[in-house]
Amino acid sequence: MAAETLFRRITDYANRADPYPFYAELREHGVARQDNGSYLVGTYHEIAALLHDPRISSDRRKRTVPDDAIIEAPGIPVAFIGLDDPEHERLRNIAMRSFGPPHSASRIDAMHDEITAIATELIDALQGRDRIDLVDDFAYPLPVTVICRLLGVPRQDESRFRAWSEAVIAGVDPTPDSDPAERRRAAVAARMAMGRYLSELADNRRGKSSDDMLSAFVNDPGPDGAFTRPELTSTAVLLLIAGHETTVNLIANGMLTFLRHPEAMKLLRRAPELMPRAVEELLRYEPPVQMLPQRTALTDVEVAGVTVPKGAPLILVLASGSRDPRRFHDPDRFDPTRRDNQHFGFGSGVHICFGAPLARIEAQIALTELTRRLEDPRLLQDPPPYRRSPILRGPRHLPLEIAGIRA
Ligand code: HEM
Repeated sequence: MAAETLFRRITDYANRADPYPFYAELREHGVARQDNGSYLVGTYHEIAALLHDPRISSDRRKRTVPDDAIIEAPGIPVAFIGLDDPEHERLRNIAMRSFGPPHSASRIDAMHDEITAIATELIDALQGRDRIDLVDDFAYPLPVTVICRLLGVPRQDESRFRAWSEAVIAGVDPTPDSDPAERRRAAVAARMAMGRYLSELADNRRGKSSDDMLSAFVNDPGPDGAFTRPELTSTAVLLLIAGHETTVNLIANGMLTFLRHPEAMKLLRRAPELMPRAVEELLRYEPPVQMLPQRTALTDVEVAGVTVPKGAPLILVLASGSRDPRRFHDPDRFDPTRRDNQHFGFGSGVHICFGAPLARIEAQIALTELTRRLEDPRLLQDPPPYRRSPILRGPRHLPLEIAGIRA
């Protein structure tokens, strides 16, 4: 079939449950130019090279073609995920100071017990039920509670920022089910509302000592200096959305995959020490971030024999690269014991996921507790209904029948 329409077919909601045959077709084409002038890349080695190539920008404003997904909200500059070095590096370093090594090396490990307690509480609350929705009852509330604690955002405001986060994501969805102008207006309004909300919270922390990240941002500037107020706002918005929209899909895709592979589920119940490796395999086999839609060539760049012209959008289909048979043995097989597994689940290069250590332990704890405690779980709908986005892909709901809850 025509390579020029592959992106339309990949992003078509009708194909959300199984986009993998289209990725196989994409890999056969190498690089596929789309009829809107963008270039799709789906092979492992090409994606890896592009993610480490300084001629490839993460800044959509560098494009020479019209771009519907640039959402510019007054007072909220582009966050560091959409910037290039050195600006990207400066802002990422300031944010990292209160999140990970070297300055906050034990932050994530220290959350282990807290995450286990949150998972335990959510599962305890399922006692007496024979039907559950794994998304609403567990996979969504767990990471949201964790990111709220980490940032210092009151959990009870969740319904407000859930709506904002959904509107921002809908603003960059390449398969709109509503008028694009209206979606953009809603996304800008949501970004501004979220920004106002988070910067007011941060202002209230000034001069008060507390161990959350918003407090650290305003009270503990490091050697790279402090964020300006607009930088703080856009970073906080980025972290809240990233913490909201991704780990939920890893947990839900994880349970769905385990239930489709009962022998894997049995193995993991017997040998929970294999869970870290199983989570890496899930990040390869059913990744929550399927593609990176925001790269742009800063100059003419040759990719697999095709010249991608300066200013052209590049769409890197990570989920396709992670199933490339030229890189992975038997790539369409889910193998929770796989060893050679340098997947693209968290990207690669300078923008590699900031939250990866947190997402990893959240998913490991969540899936360990679920496999251990849910008695005889069965899928009620396969495939389940999916969320709209082809970029952040995962079930909207995951209805299960269970025989009970183990202690
Ligand atoms: C399973 C869960 C997650 C997955 C699959 C995921 C995936 C990714 C991917 C693929 C990227 C690369 C983007 C690019 O190269 O353009 C990324 C970047 C990022 N992620 Fe995650 N992420 C997850 C969880 C989180 C969490 C929990 C946080 C926040 C605590 C987070 C914060 C970020 C940030 C701030 C960036 C931008 C990094 C940069 O531009 O330097 N992520 N993530």
